[in-house]
Amino acid sequence: MLQAARNAVHDARRIAVLTGAGVSAESGIPTFRSNGGFWRNNRFEDLATPQGFARDPLFAWQWYEERRRGIAAAQPSAGHAALVELEKRLAEFTLITQNVDGLHDRAGSKNIVKLHGDIWTVRCLACGVERTEHGELTELPPRCACGGLLRPGVVWFGEQLPEGAIERAITAVQTSDAFIVAGTSAQVYPAASLIPLALESGAQVIEINPETTDFSGEVAFSLRGNSAVILPQLL
Ligand code: OAD
Repeated sequence: MLQAARNAVHDARRIAVLTGAGVSAESGIPTFRSNGGFWRNNRFEDLATPQGFARDPLFAWQWYEERRRGIAAAQPSAGHAALVELEKRLAEFTLITQNVDGLHDRAGSKNIVKLHGDIWTVRCLACGVERTEHGELTELPPRCACGGLLRPGVVWFGEQLPEGAIERAITAVQTSDAFIVAGTSAQVYPAASLIPLALESGAQVIEINPETTDFSGEVAFSLRGNSAVILPQLL
């Protein structure tokens, strides 16, 4: 199975990749739905919805700031590095990620579509200005120069994705010869809808996950294992 998947990657001229929290698991960052995942121990309603944030922005910000600290201390894994290497080999390569941690950027990936935003950006709820904010925030909840409340630049449940992101992802998937899906439970839409789209478009779909997902039975190659091990093996 691995050798056949390697051949599919080798033969492909255009590759799209979809990553999820599992790709950052080996960097020490918890996933959302696996054992020890964020949504196993926290109420997403309080931390990842506009209504929860409006009720208690300090509580939400304390959680985001703790996540930001954990991510800042983490390093990209061999899985992130393998995707950088793959991009260098191909004229057309798109990395579609649900991750907000920025580890793909830090590893060196270039053509990234961030479906769920970026935890290193903040946006003002009053004036709408958005900026990158690395390093520790001095005041929680943080405020804009205009006095408005700042929110994390990530997509919450029930919100639209960043402008143009899903369109870019759809085009990349529809034009790809191979579509690699790594480290996602494929339960959050519209990200997960890219998998049936790839199947319909005739791409060779390769899934990498230690667990099965709803799509494991439909994809060409369902590789059971950790992405930091399997992604380098695919190249
Ligand atoms: P999930 O936590 O739902 O799924 C993580 C997946 O990674 C699971 O299927 C695990 O089996 C798999 N996994 C765990 N360790 C792995 C490893 N070392 N290598 C490969 N796979 C591994 O995370 P996502 O699918 O990314 O939304 O969740 C999607 C969205 O739900 C997130 O982007 C987040 C969350 O609410 C926002 O932040 C907007």
